[in-house]
Amino acid sequence: MKKMNGKTVIITGAGSGLGKAMAIAFAQNEYNVVLSDINMDNVIKVHEEIQAINGKSIYLRTDVSKFEEVKDLVDKAISTYGALDVMINNAGIGPKNLAPTAKSTLEDWDNVIAVNQTGVFYGMKLALLQMTIQGYGNIINIASLAGLKASGNNISYSASKFAVVGMTKSAALEYGKKNIRINAICPGYTHSALLDSMFKFKPELEEGLKKMIPFQRYGEASEIADAAIWLASEHSTFMTGQTIVLDGGLSL
Ligand SMILES: NC(=O)c1ccc[n+]([C@@H]2O[C@H](COP(=O)([O-])OP(=O)(O)OC[C@H]3O[C@@H](n4cnc5c(N)ncnc54)[C@H](O)[C@@H]3O)[C@@H](O)[C@H]2O)c1
Repeated sequence: MKKMNGKTVIITGAGSGLGKAMAIAFAQNEYNVVLSDINMDNVIKVHEEIQAINGKSIYLRTDVSKFEEVKDLVDKAISTYGALDVMINNAGIGPKNLAPTAKSTLEDWDNVIAVNQTGVFYGMKLALLQMTIQGYGNIINIASLAGLKASGNNISYSASKFAVVGMTKSAALEYGKKNIRINAICPGYTHSALLDSMFKFKPELEEGLKKMIPFQRYGEASEIADAAIWLASEHSTFMTGQTIVLDGGLSL
């Protein structure tokens, strides 16, 4: 695949899992990578890995649930690199407790919606302001299979991911004529800290879930990164408002 020398990408939640894999992949494809996370130890390690392969990156602590922090992130990308080509709204969390809707906590609801849904809205709003001025741009939202299909005992996560898919489609409708593409990736179960913490909470799920996946394995973060590289590239230029499902066949 052709390398995209000199373009700038912001990745939220870049310190771990899918965000980390995308950060490394975009650096390998010669993007300027603006890394952000609330976990500074992790994000600095990713920055160092990128420096070690002679990639270009900067980092900033950004809590995506805080509008001013997301604004600082977009401003920093533009003041450092001059433009924002790709915005990847990846940061996401699960609830502390998996429970049926009536027993799910208000705290879990508020936290999950603030990060997964409102955080993506902030990222889209601020990126779109800049991309409209530039006259081009590409937004990739990391949703989930849980944004397309029912998932039990996970009402806040389900609500937030269905919202990400809806926001992706609605904004894509608005901004197509402005030369801005907006798509979502919907991963199935993929190795990451998020998945590991779910298995820690319910260890019996690990083997049982695997058996339900036609590929009989979990996804790798690098496989999600490959799709993000393609979505950001000139190999997907007629595509907007869509969801790409990467789930080893689980949704079938
Ligand atoms: N791993 C999976 O199986 C899977 C499946 C479907 C969707 N997803 C989605 O992929 C995305 C990445 O998840 P992951 O699996 O890599 O998890 P992860 O826990 O490995 O990484 C998430 C990162 O987001 C950061 N983060 C958490 N809250 C934040 C906040 N308020 N502001 C900024 N950063 C914050 C964390 O510090 C962490 O570095 C999430 O949106 C998740 O919902 C993951």
